[in-house]
Amino acid sequence: LHTLPPLQMAQRYFTLFPEQRDPLWQNPCDDRRHKEIWSKEKTCDRLPRILLIGPQKTGTTVLHLLLLMHPSISTTPLSNPSNHSNYSPHQEVQFFNTNNYNKGIDWYMDFFPLHSNISNDFLFEKCSSYFSSDDAPRRAAALLPKAKIVTVLVNPSDRAYSCYQHEKNNQKLRFSFYDVISAGQGAPTELRSLQNHCLTPGRYSTHLGRWLLHYSANQLLILDGQQLRTDPTAVMDEVQRFLGVSHFNYSQTILSEQQKSSWCHQMEGGLTRCLGSKEQKYPVMEPEARSFLSMYYRQHNIDLSTLLHRLGQPLPSWLREELQKVT
Ligand code: A3P
Repeated sequence: LHTLPPLQMAQRYFTLFPEQRDPLWQNPCDDRRHKEIWSKEKTCDRLPRILLIGPQKTGTTVLHLLLLMHPSISTTPLSNPSNHSNYSPHQEVQFFNTNNYNKGIDWYMDFFPLHSNISNDFLFEKCSSYFSSDDAPRRAAALLPKAKIVTVLVNPSDRAYSCYQHEKNNQKLRFSFYDVISAGQGAPTELRSLQNHCLTPGRYSTHLGRWLLHYSANQLLILDGQQLRTDPTAVMDEVQRFLGVSHFNYSQTILSEQQKSSWCHQMEGGLTRCLGSKEQKYPVMEPEARSFLSMYYRQHNIDLSTLLHRLGQPLPSWLREELQKVT
């Protein structure tokens, strides 16, 4: 039998089957034949059962922290506060949506603790950019077909404004918010890219539609970010029912600190951690920008309400308000 050395063989193979150059990782333990050749030292228990997909600026950091308070839920040690003194919940693995995907599933699984998903424990991964990624739903469904998908939605106009304020905080922006949202085809690339970054994730129905091509409706939980702000205990009760985890009483753990205007969590040793501020730290949106965005998102919001009706889910109050606006 004449054969080529492995590298040349691979090159030949991908010349013959170019469509297979882009990998689509599946769970090696889902197929007996794969499992048989899978190294004995490897396990499939280091894959998350829950994906918190975003989008950004909807309260996902707070939800991440709330999930971690649950005794049966954990995440990548990378973003686990108990293991890292310089913890930042913004650190994300960014696997399904970036070139990290090409690093393979060993690379991904190494982020998760060993033996953590075997019993009743639930591992989750939070990545706020998965929501609007073209690739993430297909790739996630190939590797994690049974995963539960959690998303948080707020009024997309507020989300866009919050995104702008976030960018303004991080860099010197020479554009006003209205410049960003109203930029046309011929606008500078920098402006168009900021516009895309802040506006595109808010086309909720398009992105949810993509996730629903790969996951069934009962695997998807759509949370109201406004309710997360005002009544996190009710939201966490809903999350727990959806995940099927043992009930943890959040009302005894998180307290509203009036002075700090935020929800706070009493930790061991008398320490208190507060989950973001309930109040906005920047000026309210100009009415001109608000009207522009209501128009911009109008059809997307109508499509979202159709989608939620189809899924048998209630409409969040911000969506009702947007739909009542006269054009
Ligand atoms: P602002 O930056 O506009 O204030 P994410 O973590 O998904 O990026 O979302 C950040 C936004 O969540 C912040 O918006 C923040 O105000 C908001 N937030 C803060 N506390 C919250 C809470 N308890 N529930 C829901 N959202 C909260």
